[in-house]
Amino acid sequence: MKVLVTGGAGYIGAHTVRELVNRGYEVVVLDNMEYGYEKALLGQAKLVRGNIADSALLDSLFQTEKPDGVMHFAAYKNVGESVANPSKYFNNNVTGTLSLLDAMVRNNINYFIFSSSCSVYGTPQNLPASETNNPFNPESPYALSKYMVEQILKWYDHSFGLRSISLRYFNAAGASFDSKIGEDWTMSLNLVPVVLKAALGVTPKVLIFGNDYPTRDGTCIRDYIHVVDLADAHVAALEHLRATNQTTAYNLGTGEGSTVQDVVDLAKRISGVDFVAEVVPRRLGDPVGIWADTSKAEIELNWKAKYRLEEIIRTAWEWHSTHPNGYK
Ligand code: WQD
Repeated sequence: MKVLVTGGAGYIGAHTVRELVNRGYEVVVLDNMEYGYEKALLGQAKLVRGNIADSALLDSLFQTEKPDGVMHFAAYKNVGESVANPSKYFNNNVTGTLSLLDAMVRNNINYFIFSSSCSVYGTPQNLPASETNNPFNPESPYALSKYMVEQILKWYDHSFGLRSISLRYFNAAGASFDSKIGEDWTMSLNLVPVVLKAALGVTPKVLIFGNDYPTRDGTCIRDYIHVVDLADAHVAALEHLRATNQTTAYNLGTGEGSTVQDVVDLAKRISGVDFVAEVVPRRLGDPVGIWADTSKAEIELNWKAKYRLEEIIRTAWEWHSTHPNGYK
């Protein structure tokens, strides 16, 4: 079976490409290389450089490669940037995805796995967050772009029979266990790479955005999920979709919450470096806590996260300390 993976030269995309190949799939990657690295593919997949907005390229790609399904990772994902530049996010994440979906309809390709996000829930009232126990409340253009695509996918099922599964990631982190691929941290402002940059002395300190929250140590709680667990879930979702033809969505997390302080403390223990972590005022828009109820994926996908914060920090540390300049 052949899968087209958009954004497959990126962080989560490359880990998923590797899992697909390990499981016997043939993979073609479409990536505009804005944030992607060919080295992340380890020579295991054909790479086509281009943009999901290029309809002519998509038609020729679908006609020559004839993939059985599409996994769609190509999107911008910086929440703060999306607030400053909503147009960039709606054009690429929504209009770009529409271009991809229309090309799939024209070429009769009916299986679509979509990278969505727990940020579609905004600040959840009910925890752990299942797929149905919180209203949708996207609080940034990034989150809204994910929510909009999920709603569009319902109509592409209804009108064209295009079947999809949306995977709502919680906080993705970590790297491959053999340190061959990992996150390119030059672009990432997420907590785990930021903490490890301080541990490696690339930055002088970590800023902790507030320790006056109503949590056990005053810092925010998140559900950090290993990128290898995410990759595994994508393959399980594609196989489930082909077997059921049912459009739906799943939360992908571990079901366990960790505080910012937990991450900092564990990074110090694993790196052996007592780097500076300075508490500063809260960051606007941060929910106090969000962690997943993953029972739907466990039951329907027969998938459960295998790894926890220990493996996340350990694999990320091994990747970044052996690749301080990422793939460069
Ligand atoms: C985590 C915690 C910060 C940096 C992410 C992605 C988003 C979506 C949901 C996939 C928060 C604190 C962070 C720092 C800090 N994922 N922090 N100092 O905001 O939970 O959102 O997960 O779609 O794309 O961005 O992730 O890593 O920015 O923050 O104290 O330097 O760490 O306040 O509590 P967030 P994050």
